[in-house]
Amino acid sequence: MAESMKGLCRSCRAAEVTKEMIGNRITLMGWVQKARDKGGIVFVDLRDRSGIMQVILEEGPVSKEDFEKAGRLRAEFVIAVTGTVKMRDAVNPNIPTGEIELQADSLRILSEADVPPFPIEENSRTKDEIRLKYRYLDLRRPDLQRNLMLRSRVAMLTRQFFANEGFLEIETPMLGKSTPEGARDYLVPSRIHPGCFYGLPQSPQLYKQLLMCSGYDRYIQIARCFRDEDLRADRQPEFTQIDMELSFVDVDDVISVNERYLAFLFKEVLGVEVKLPIERITWQEAMDRFGSDKPDMRFGMELVDVSEVVKNCGFAVFTGALEAGGSVRGINAKGQGSMPRKKIDKLVEFVKGYGAKGLAYIAIAEDGTRKSSFAKFMTDEEMDALVAAMDGENGDLLLFVSDKTRLVYDVLGALRLELARQLELFDKNEFRFVWVTEFPLLEWNEDENRFQAMHHPFTMLMEEDIDLLDTDPGKVRAKAYDIVLNGNEIGGGSVRIHQSDIQEKMFEALGFTKEAAYEQFGFLLDAFRYGVPPHAGLAYGLDRLVMLMAGVDSIRDVIAFPKVKDASCLMTQSPAIVDDKQLGELHIAVVPETDA
Ligand code: AMO
Ligand code: AMP
Repeated sequence: MAESMKGLCRSCRAAEVTKEMIGNRITLMGWVQKARDKGGIVFVDLRDRSGIMQVILEEGPVSKEDFEKAGRLRAEFVIAVTGTVKMRDAVNPNIPTGEIELQADSLRILSEADVPPFPIEENSRTKDEIRLKYRYLDLRRPDLQRNLMLRSRVAMLTRQFFANEGFLEIETPMLGKSTPEGARDYLVPSRIHPGCFYGLPQSPQLYKQLLMCSGYDRYIQIARCFRDEDLRADRQPEFTQIDMELSFVDVDDVISVNERYLAFLFKEVLGVEVKLPIERITWQEAMDRFGSDKPDMRFGMELVDVSEVVKNCGFAVFTGALEAGGSVRGINAKGQGSMPRKKIDKLVEFVKGYGAKGLAYIAIAEDGTRKSSFAKFMTDEEMDALVAAMDGENGDLLLFVSDKTRLVYDVLGALRLELARQLELFDKNEFRFVWVTEFPLLEWNEDENRFQAMHHPFTMLMEEDIDLLDTDPGKVRAKAYDIVLNGNEIGGGSVRIHQSDIQEKMFEALGFTKEAAYEQFGFLLDAFRYGVPPHAGLAYGLDRLVMLMAGVDSIRDVIAFPKVKDASCLMTQSPAIVDDKQLGELHIAVVPETDA
């Protein structure tokens, strides 16, 4: 039977009880972590979001009736206990309240509980599917509670910092217009306008630019965004951005306020000093050195371009790639020269997964003898030159990929990370930030045979590259920047185009007719005709930021109710079929999949 809490008032949370409170009479409420009946005395570990407090229930201090209740306690019962704080006989050094306990004088069972499908404990080994089905129980576990408390603190400090910097928090609509650039939109059918749909925002991008037109020169929003894309550990269909936009600024202004923000946040939350200014590298340098536009800079093993060294060698795999306009690049896995053949074969399989045709290697033994998958195609001098170019020393393993340069970057970038993981080349507790700047403005879309905006169509190009837009659009660099932490893109932004002639040129380069551009973005282009300040902005992925601060591997662990890989929610079973009446009101008929 569940009792009421009438007449009782919780004094504090379980782990907020301190030694200073010894002798005080207090009331705690929470869940039973564990109840041990030692005959005549029942020990209860009482848990709430702060932690655990030991409660002693014995007949005498508690009434006969309450003592009987104590005997019925099971894990996850919700109880209220009143009693006196006292010193423990046996100290438990593993918990903050390990020196004290509550000598109860009364007990109420506020609610009983079925046996939970898995134990509520730290580092659960229960399968993800079960945990997500019972997410409300999973969320009771201390690790998830800590993550969500951290997230709340990050959001609070973010608001505080930006408010102090003169930013205004302004909400933008969830029901907006679908714009096909970028990821796929989630659509919401309109009841009142048959056949019409709202698009859920992929980001508040257009609205925040309009707010700049309206004079709110510093905007911030912790904004929910929706993108219908394939999910990964760092991607959810709905996620949260810390989204901002500033007027009368250029790249350095945005970077400066954000560096101060990151330093403030990491100091407040983790006690970590972020060294300012944060290093900046250009996109080209990031690709050349790390094979990635989000380089993990906690370790070296940088890529080396050996195209020049091998351009006249006898290995057709290399020269063929070069003749086709590609390149040959390598990485040096220091001290891995004696890696067993089986392990090297695994690396070959790994790179093939990223689209490489193969992985050429030179393994240099401690005594200097070399084993190589392509030595037979090379002269000794050519091999010497290649090893020298790679700074190859005795005991090193040199790995090479030749292909289209973009693929070589991707493959070696991924291989570099994989090796670093295997060889534990980085310090898990280090936070290494870097700004990646000067992104290409456009990227070629092979499928559609046209350029598309790498960031979005409103991103400003570097002034010195404006003429290239007509002659060599692929070479134009953007005033775009990403903030990268330990190999994760935690945020990105750009200076926006505010000049209509440049915007028109940009749409042209993207293959938009004037009409098509107007059709999609007319309201923004119109707004710009009435006086637009130069503006720029940035958005962080809050989930990713908190994931890294919490030291977990998936953003699922910092989101209260996340979705799984196929974008469904295992707890609520959404998405779900709706009844015909609801569909009818929305003027929608569902075509069975077989007919589609
Ligand atoms: P962008 O598309 O780079 O920029 O998004 C900004 C940041 O949001 C995070 N992010 C995601 N997090 C979780 N799940 C996802 N599916 C997901 N997609 C993106 C990333 C990313 O860096 N409007 C621009 C910003 C601007 O120019 O001001 C924008 O949305 O951490
Ligand atoms: P093959 O002559 O095809 O047996 O290749 C000889 C070696 O070159 C093998 O170790 C292959 O894995 C490697 N290899 C093949 N294609 C490539 C490539 N595009 N880049 C780097 N190595 C390659």
